[in-house]
Amino acid sequence: MALKRKDILTIRELEAEEILLILDTADSMKEIASREIKKVPALRGKTVINLFYEPSTRTRTSFEIAGKWLSADVINIAATASSVTKGESLLDTGKTLQAMHPDVVVIRHPAPGAPKILADCLQASIINAGDGAHEHPTQALLDLFTIRERLGRLEGLRAAIVGDISHSRVARSNIAAMRKMGIEVRVAGPSTLLPRLPEQLGVRATCEIGAAIADADVIMMLRIQRERQGPTLLPSLREYSRLFGLTVERLKKAKEGVLIMHPGPINRGVEIAPEVADGPYSLILDQVTNGVAIRMALLYLLTGGQPAER
Ligand code: CP
Repeated sequence: MALKRKDILTIRELEAEEILLILDTADSMKEIASREIKKVPALRGKTVINLFYEPSTRTRTSFEIAGKWLSADVINIAATASSVTKGESLLDTGKTLQAMHPDVVVIRHPAPGAPKILADCLQASIINAGDGAHEHPTQALLDLFTIRERLGRLEGLRAAIVGDISHSRVARSNIAAMRKMGIEVRVAGPSTLLPRLPEQLGVRATCEIGAAIADADVIMMLRIQRERQGPTLLPSLREYSRLFGLTVERLKKAKEGVLIMHPGPINRGVEIAPEVADGPYSLILDQVTNGVAIRMALLYLLTGGQPAER
């Protein structure tokens, strides 16, 4: 089976079998990281442009490594160092890049829908690397991959996503991805940071972190998205940490062996205690490692690769 789409814009548009194809392809890509020479010729002659209008450590770096390990030519553009600062529009920037014939453009942008604008007018494949509070599909895919790698399955698991749900593109994409793959999702956080209609997302919502994590197989903690909030949603970070932070004490009441995840960047001592972030149940750095394999799989599949051909 090939991936029958030009772009990766949202999790919601992906079928469950496409998600499985991406995860299975990432499985075989991951082995490349353990080789002495981390290079295969699969994308030789292809060009990947990383176009980032927002800061990023994990996503931008892993797309660059993924492209390079597959032998693509990778070009990184930070909007702050581009002609965007001279007033060039997103569409004009996109058309300018298209004139140089890239095969894939990876875009992160603060505006929801920005990747779709490029997808509609560029021949290159567009990958959404995070658009405002809308979606972050490649993060959700690497999170599914990490859970499946650790537990051997997805169907029938329970996940708790805790924190600033309403401003989080990671939460939005993960809720959609987890539900498609048969994971029951609960969300927890202050009422001001929970979705207004959780049932429309297919999740249960609570202001009690204890109730959300009690029988969870996976706990995903989220950063407070200060950059997307108004000033009055959260009185103080200290109070937030006391009521919603994942501490060693809270973790003792969770299931034995529960998986602790966080998309990063983490704020130690706010949403997660350092001992938990660095503890034996934490998969935070596994998520980073797996981000490369997932992004290799996506670049490979979008440029026409078949899993068996590599
Ligand atoms: N998880 C994530 O998107 O991290 P970056 O902002 O560092 O890319």
